Amino acid sequence: MANILVFDSGVGGLSVYQEIQTLLPQHNYIYLFDNKAYPYGELEPQRLIERVSRFMRSMVEKHAIDLVVIACNTASTIVLPRLRQELKIPVVGVVPAIKPAAAISQKAIGLIATPATVVRSYTHNLIKEFAPNSKVELLGSTRLVTMAEEKLRGTAVNLVELQQILTPLLNQIDTAVLGCTHFPLLREEMQLVLGKGVTLIDSGKAIAERVKRLLDANMVDSSSRLSPYAIYSSATPWEGVALNIGLAKFGFSPVRTFPLPDA
Ligand code: DGL
Repeated sequence: MANILVFDSGVGGLSVYQEIQTLLPQHNYIYLFDNKAYPYGELEPQRLIERVSRFMRSMVEKHAIDLVVIACNTASTIVLPRLRQELKIPVVGVVPAIKPAAAISQKAIGLIATPATVVRSYTHNLIKEFAPNSKVELLGSTRLVTMAEEKLRGTAVNLVELQQILTPLLNQIDTAVLGCTHFPLLREEMQLVLGKGVTLIDSGKAIAERVKRLLDANMVDSSSRLSPYAIYSSATPWEGVALNIGLAKFGFSPVRTFPLPDA
């Protein structure tokens, strides 16, 4: 049994957590989200790197973490080299599923992500390497991220607003990459707006497989140091009651604060 930390700026990482937990239900999970600095898609890169590094070092030490999942595309596109240098445990990141999208797309790919992810050189290198012959339309939106946060708190998604945001992609693409972990939480609504002819792809299952392979290879066994099945936050979350109801659906106990010296 391993202690696995899943991290995101908000509730998006729950979409990744769900895939990992489904594949590997025998492990202990802690879900940490940095709602204090949310949204990461609008955070200055160096500040993001410093924050994530501090969080991870502190959590790994305090909770005997065996493996970290950075369940955030925006963070993963810039923090992974630093974390892999600093932490002595496996670090799994999530980046937009451009490669599988290019393998199936016959027309054009829409990459839907945060405003930061769509401008990162990491993302542009991914496209150059794995989709050199595909037409890739980029759409960065923080409002979509917030809509996913609202949905988890019980607010219905406004389809008219969603359609407005996705307008640049309508009838232009056959494959949409959900390049932000918040977006699988809006999958049904996005499918409705984009239409049945568009295949939506995210990285959740691939991440779960990667975690499995790493745990198999590292033969982690933390059965003697059970960690709590808990969830932490760095600041009082908005609509806390509604958030806790949403989190309970993923099996989590009410949110607790993780006191981290501010970065
Ligand atoms: N869920 C995150 C991602 O995958 C970031 C959302 C945000 O905080 O802007 O990119």
